[in-house]
Amino acid sequence: MRSADIPLSLYVHWPWCVRKCPYCDFNSHALTSSYDPSHQYIDALIHDLKHSIAYAQNRELISIFIGGGTPSLIAPQELERFLETIFSLLKVASDVEITLEANPGTVDTAHFKAYRSIGINRLSMGIQSFNDELLKRLGRIHNSEDAHKAIKIAQESFENFNLDVMFALPGQTLEELKFELNEAIAAQSTHLSFYQLTLEPNTVFAKHIPDKIPDPDVIYQMQDLVTSSLETAGFEHYEVSGYAKPGKRCRHNLNYWQFGDYLACGAGAHSKVTLKDGTIVREARFMQPESYIKHAIKDSAVAHERVVAKEEQAFEFMLNVLRLREGAPLDLLSERTALSLDDIQPGIAKAQSLGLMPQPLNRFVTTDKGWDFLSDVQEIFL
Ligand SMILES: C[S@@+](CC[C@H](N)C(=O)[O-])C[C@H]1O[C@@H](n2cnc3c(N)ncnc32)[C@H](O)[C@@H]1O
Ligand code: SF4
Repeated sequence: MRSADIPLSLYVHWPWCVRKCPYCDFNSHALTSSYDPSHQYIDALIHDLKHSIAYAQNRELISIFIGGGTPSLIAPQELERFLETIFSLLKVASDVEITLEANPGTVDTAHFKAYRSIGINRLSMGIQSFNDELLKRLGRIHNSEDAHKAIKIAQESFENFNLDVMFALPGQTLEELKFELNEAIAAQSTHLSFYQLTLEPNTVFAKHIPDKIPDPDVIYQMQDLVTSSLETAGFEHYEVSGYAKPGKRCRHNLNYWQFGDYLACGAGAHSKVTLKDGTIVREARFMQPESYIKHAIKDSAVAHERVVAKEEQAFEFMLNVLRLREGAPLDLLSERTALSLDDIQPGIAKAQSLGLMPQPLNRFVTTDKGWDFLSDVQEIFL
């Protein structure tokens, strides 16, 4: 394993939203006052980023992802200040992918043109649904008209953009899902993420489970409908929830799934870097925005650091690469971990005996059956 050859990304977390959605367990908090925290937070991010420079080991960043939360609340001039700092402190690939997540309830044309002009070249919008009734049930701050307006603005300013859509929503029928698919396809984005609604612990939905969540067999049909409709429309189903037009896979997320390295800054953000001696280090930052800012300004944003033991690496590696429908080449294991194929042979033999991985194994990939029971395959390597 040569750490110098492992691609490097940067994740930046913005922890605020206009309102907290009842299904969401991301580290996101409602902005309670009219005070704009952009300036103070960007100061904190810059301190945090400086801490990470040594981990880059002179590698070029291949992607930057500004996620949240709702980072489309950041004032463009503050985001520009931060991007300039990144470019001055780190090497950045000339074709770097820079994504910003946006909520359709926070979109205006001037802001989006400004984001494009400061170097953001990919937008990811949380549409969730085009059905006003379902949007209400999801507690979203926007309606379908706002979604259409936001898509129009995205089309005008960004040639590369993603829409997030959720399915298996309370009371949703297969017919209603067809409508969502038609609307999503008509938006002509380069990428779509279709997520099955999950009831995450510690969310409002987990405490008060909404009525009429579709039955598992309907959800299965819904997943089939999503995949077949999007493939017919020219999208490649390349990851569990990810669909891309040819050549438009999300480079940032692909790097996670190929067990690449990533620096991180922002409240609760996690990084994973491989040191020159092959040690894999994970760091997690303070979660609460106020606590994060306080610590970051004193150059101590990291709350936990741990070395990923050799025994944990098989599971971590499989957890990521098997999410890709095409899987990953066998060589990637020794390129990205301290393991050899022999170390994980018992797990592979077990998965093959259950028909979950193919025999012979030319890549790390699941069979169709393994794809349907992905978490079972991944757990074999625990
Ligand atoms: C951090 S959000 C990004 C965008 C922005 N915050 C918004 O919601 O508009 C990432 C995406 O994860 C998905 N998501 C969040 N919670 C989910 C859940 N419980 N089940 C399924 N998908 C979820 C949503 O599609 C959401 O857009
Ligand atoms: S806007 Fe996005 S990040 Fe914020 S609470 Fe809703 S789903 Fe979560």
